[in-house]
Amino acid sequence: MQLISSRLKSNGKIIGLVPTMGFLHEGHTSLIIKSKEQSDITIVSIFVNPIQFAPTEDLESYPRDIEEDKLILKKNKVDYLFLPSAHEIYQQKFNTYVEVLGLTSKFEGEFRPTHFKGVTTVVAILFNIVNPHKVFFGQKDAQQVSVIKKMIIDLHYDIELFLCPIVREPDGLAMSSRNVYLGADERRRALLLYQSLNEARELIDKGERNALSIVKKVNNIFITEKTIHLNYIAIVEYDTFLAADILKSGISYFIIIAAKVGKTRLIDNLLVSIK
Ligand code: PAJ
Repeated sequence: MQLISSRLKSNGKIIGLVPTMGFLHEGHTSLIIKSKEQSDITIVSIFVNPIQFAPTEDLESYPRDIEEDKLILKKNKVDYLFLPSAHEIYQQKFNTYVEVLGLTSKFEGEFRPTHFKGVTTVVAILFNIVNPHKVFFGQKDAQQVSVIKKMIIDLHYDIELFLCPIVREPDGLAMSSRNVYLGADERRRALLLYQSLNEARELIDKGERNALSIVKKVNNIFITEKTIHLNYIAIVEYDTFLAADILKSGISYFIIIAAKVGKTRLIDNLLVSIK
């Protein structure tokens, strides 16, 4: 992969990288489409990264279908699939980690304390191997994007990051490889995440600027909902991912939510700009 990439680069090609863990859906293909617009060569990596899963999480059961993924990549005319094995990425006695501090301690970091360290380590390795000009990430994992943006700045990667909007099912549920875990009833209930984000947005549209009172109102929706366990709902600044207090005009925010529906942990968010 390193050799292919350096040859392409010396031929003046602009390389776009789309990192994924496979089991591809339209969220992933939206990143591929964007990369194809923005680059000469699109490389998709598929690697279910063991070190971003905690021992209690779903590494073993994480959905995989490499043959179907290959068909999707062909259909979308992806130039290269980078499909390394775990021992190729993490060589013998691997002992070097990349960690963004601060940003990673809240929200997802609170519920998955080792997760982002695993993400930034593997993304740094992928950047070093593929050496892309441009990388494409989904807003679905908004905090992940903030963390990777910070890593790009702090480690002086000469890489442009593109943030791609969330692709949703027709009823509004954000597409996710993990949605396959949901039973029919859970699938219906899972819609509450998107509905409560919209509720928060409506309050903002009506002029509410106090982030805490918006969050409190939306929290109340979950009190009576016994089968969904809310992890957090919050409003954070687009640039810093710090929790907002009073929403200010001219500033963009993510309304972020995470909840467990049965055994499945889901995350979602909306991007809002205050006029
Ligand atoms: P994965 O969950 O496979 O997601 C790969 C990319 O697809 C991420 O940038 C994610 O935000 C984006 N994505 C997922 N669902 C989306 C949706 N509904 N709409 C738009 N984009 C969506 O995120 C990871 O893998 C890993 O943490 C990775 C970055 C590959 C590191 O291992």
